[in-house]
Amino acid sequence: MNQSASTGTTVDAPAHVKHRAAIEWVARVAALTRPDRVVWCDGSTEEYDRLCAEMVGAGMLQRLNPTLRPNSYLALSDPTDVARMEDRTFICSKYKEDTGPTNNWVEPAEMRTTLDGLFEGCMRGRTMYVIPFSMGPIGSPIAHIGIELTDSPYVVVSMHVMTRVSTRVWELLGTDGPYVPAVHSVGAPLVGGAADVRWPCNKDHKYIVHFPETKEIWSFGSGYGGNALLGKKCFSLRIASIMGKEQGWLAEHMLILGVTSPSGEKTYVSAAFPSACGKTNFAMLVPPPAFEGWKVTTIGEDIAWIKPNADGRLYAINPENGFFGVAPGTSMKTNPNCMETMKANVIFTNVALTPEGDVWWEGMTDTPPAKLTDWQGQAWTPEIAKATGRKAAHANSRFTVPASQCPSIDPEWDNPKGVPISAFLFGGRRSDTVPLVAEGFNWDAGVYMAATMGSETTAAATGKVGVVRRDPMAMIPFTGYNMADYFDHWIQMGKQVEHRPHIFCVNWFRTDENGKFVWPGFGENMRVLKWIVERTQGRANAIETAVGWVPAFEDLMWTGLEGFDRAKFDQVTSIEPRQWKHELSLHDELLTMLDARLPAAIRLRREQLGLAFGQ
Ligand code: OXD
Ligand code: MN
Repeated sequence: MNQSASTGTTVDAPAHVKHRAAIEWVARVAALTRPDRVVWCDGSTEEYDRLCAEMVGAGMLQRLNPTLRPNSYLALSDPTDVARMEDRTFICSKYKEDTGPTNNWVEPAEMRTTLDGLFEGCMRGRTMYVIPFSMGPIGSPIAHIGIELTDSPYVVVSMHVMTRVSTRVWELLGTDGPYVPAVHSVGAPLVGGAADVRWPCNKDHKYIVHFPETKEIWSFGSGYGGNALLGKKCFSLRIASIMGKEQGWLAEHMLILGVTSPSGEKTYVSAAFPSACGKTNFAMLVPPPAFEGWKVTTIGEDIAWIKPNADGRLYAINPENGFFGVAPGTSMKTNPNCMETMKANVIFTNVALTPEGDVWWEGMTDTPPAKLTDWQGQAWTPEIAKATGRKAAHANSRFTVPASQCPSIDPEWDNPKGVPISAFLFGGRRSDTVPLVAEGFNWDAGVYMAATMGSETTAAATGKVGVVRRDPMAMIPFTGYNMADYFDHWIQMGKQVEHRPHIFCVNWFRTDENGKFVWPGFGENMRVLKWIVERTQGRANAIETAVGWVPAFEDLMWTGLEGFDRAKFDQVTSIEPRQWKHELSLHDELLTMLDARLPAAIRLRREQLGLAFGQ
């Protein structure tokens, strides 16, 4: 038995937990936060079902109609707790320059004082759960381990889906193995027997904090998504990006997919897109009928951990175990594989409820149901929506579902060795300037393309619509250290591997003079993907432009795509010097901000582009 000295909270580590430092850490956090009890999670189905039943009893979860959506639940969050909060996310490195200008920094000792004050007694009246989890197949040389302490049962069940929670993690850790410690509290103690609310959170204080030197995560006040499921963005991207820099690997905001050609040849590619650019749809792409014999399979749809292998190639795993995807816009038309994945065992958050006890969101069907209960628990009809503009589902409403249920899941998705990556793709949402596809002339030129990638803001985000924001490697909210050092790390990684993946930029979003998308997108992206795969095999033709290697019209397969003629192809592939001059001045805004530590290879490539476009 292990008791925290100041409060008497019994920590009671089970016999299979032999890691003294971890037990002491749990006791220290319990002494600070003072939960009523500590529960050591085992990741079992029994634990998942029990916690879900408890939450249904407490009104935090609603069980959906088991005939329509077996073993599935709906959670409705507090209306103020609906998204990741970049302005409340902090990287507290010892020196501010190591955090860099694209992250929020607070001096670590000052932040620890703030956190001590907030966490003091914050779990009173609640249970503290100890979640042992592996990001990636347990024991994989690419995987890493974390322990999350949380006072939210919703977080526990979500972590069951999104990570590998198991007592085997303790076996692997043994008496002194390395793990990332992550502490989470909703920041809403239940004092004096106060009744709980449906979605506890702290309306006044929210902090998502990372300490790079000690690889710790502390999150306070939010119960939502990446703020609370600390294995995801906090560990798998921010902390892991720092580990990758120190240890010589990459933690990226990337999907991973496999392409199998009719001859059975398999190629894996990894692709980074900012949100609202169709990343999940691309990860589960269904090739058009003309691509008979071609198959696309899914390894992951959000994060990739990529390490050099002894064979001179980069191997990637999806560190996650489930999908935490945005529901609105997902339909049988846009992503049938995803809809199929969500048939059962789903936790939905902030979608609408049908009178039959199933779920609905904008875009799921062309015609909305006549009557719904919206994500805030209020009556909703299409007429009300018309009159008020109120959405039935929140724009950032989510599904949490096991990856193994995805019909397009790749047979190797759980392979501890990972899969060899042949190409990296980087894509933003650009109505002009950036061509449909271009391949970097070499690794450094590809890294420059990725580092200067931009995307236009959509209505889903706050602020002005259509403004280009730089989002290097789609990692602007997720790189846990100075962005210039991160560029340098990419440059250095290229020197470490003998068989470097080819690097491409893609853009599905060029528009015509009426603002209409020219490229059909979705499954038709296979036409570009096929060319990319064949480029990595040295088979596809390309022509040289100032931006990189691009396909000529004849180099893509057009069978089955009626009406997409050469003129349209020119519209999505043109490289206009006038637009590129402006584009380079936008690159400069980012590069100037990072100037102090910018790698020479990035400067050089910028100079080459300047010469090419006379800017
Ligand atoms: C996500 C994100 O939730 O990128 O995956 O915001
Ligand atoms: Mn993401």
